[in-house]
Amino acid sequence: MSSHLIPPHGGTLVNRIVDADQAGKLKAAAADLPKITLSAKQACDLEMIAIGAFSPLTGFVNKADFEGICKDMHLADGTAWPIPLTLAVDDAVKGTLKQGGQAALHHSDGTLLAVIDCDDIYAHDKKLEIPNVFGTEDEAHPGVKAVLDEGDWCVGGDIHVITVTPEREPGEQFTEHRLAPAQTREAFTKLGWKTVSAFQTRNPIHRAHEYLCKCAQEITDGLLIHPLVGETKPGDIPADVRMDCYKTIIENYFVEERTMLTVMPGAMRYAGPREAVQHALTRQNYGISHFIVGRDHAGVGDYYGTYDAQNIFDKFADGEIEIELLKFEHAAWSHKAQGMVSGKTFPKIKGDQVFLSGTKVREMLGNGERPPSEFSRPEVADVLIKWATSEATVGA
Ligand code: ADX
Repeated sequence: MSSHLIPPHGGTLVNRIVDADQAGKLKAAAADLPKITLSAKQACDLEMIAIGAFSPLTGFVNKADFEGICKDMHLADGTAWPIPLTLAVDDAVKGTLKQGGQAALHHSDGTLLAVIDCDDIYAHDKKLEIPNVFGTEDEAHPGVKAVLDEGDWCVGGDIHVITVTPEREPGEQFTEHRLAPAQTREAFTKLGWKTVSAFQTRNPIHRAHEYLCKCAQEITDGLLIHPLVGETKPGDIPADVRMDCYKTIIENYFVEERTMLTVMPGAMRYAGPREAVQHALTRQNYGISHFIVGRDHAGVGDYYGTYDAQNIFDKFADGEIEIELLKFEHAAWSHKAQGMVSGKTFPKIKGDQVFLSGTKVREMLGNGERPPSEFSRPEVADVLIKWATSEATVGA
């Protein structure tokens, strides 16, 4: 690994995937262990921990870390961390577990994924987690709802991982783009990139997104377009459709040698500010030096202020978070300026900027209509129209 790249958060890049020899032993031992079937969100978290994307975490959080994270965004040892990665289980499963023992973690398709050391089994304090992490207790918030639906107990302890990608369809797995932090670091080094910016996204790529990416490209050696492809809420556009959008825009509008596309297998929490911190620390682990945070990053509905996800970083002491932020104001096309602008670069003139609501864009796509080219590149619009008008989508 190159010493030129930013170090991982906490100093050590974690890898919890065991070698073939150990995998064989774990498989044999797992047959006699209590079984936990992971939810989609938990399977995403398992993969993120396993590959080191959540370094320095080496497993699901124990009670002391859970409390530290919820109360003031720090692990018990003082390291900054904003969202608890919990392995929540219900009463029935809890009854099968022994503190100090182990449990086998299975994918919902039955595949044995990992074994966890059940170091700590503790009550899931949702009353502590929900308001602190999400800033709301509204059950209509998808992240809040996900926690409420989880079990009332948590299991904390290190994981020993056999596989993170059970036999899924290659298309669903994005195998070619599924690079772990150690692999992106290697790729950046090979390309000679010392500074790399990353763009987190869970949406198709529109002109405003493209603008942020290009501003970042002016500053750093390379850009990683790094979509989150783990669990998202119903209504969000599926990851495979989005991947086609990213590939299309890179092919048509980016300098390919300076642009990389890989996926982040994490689950969305829609936790706005706290999730922005998690996204930033995660990207640092991938070797990213500069992270883009724009308007309402990782937000949903009206739960967060437009720039809360930028301001939250001020709560940390100098040096606690090493990755640099590229903070962007709300950007849009200006007819007068004939280009993308923000409040920082061009005065507001009534009716000058192109704003389209998500609902309006969906409606247009469903009708087979391209949104204006000032909002979305036509090649991207066509990918989305194909999806929005397909029988599977229309019938859903
Ligand atoms: S997110 O959940 O991943 O944040 P999205 O994919 O829409 O959602 O946004 C990706 C990144 O682009 C985030 O940093 C977000 O703040 C930023 N962003 C999206 N739209 C705009 C815009 N019009 N102006 C400025 N930043 C934006």
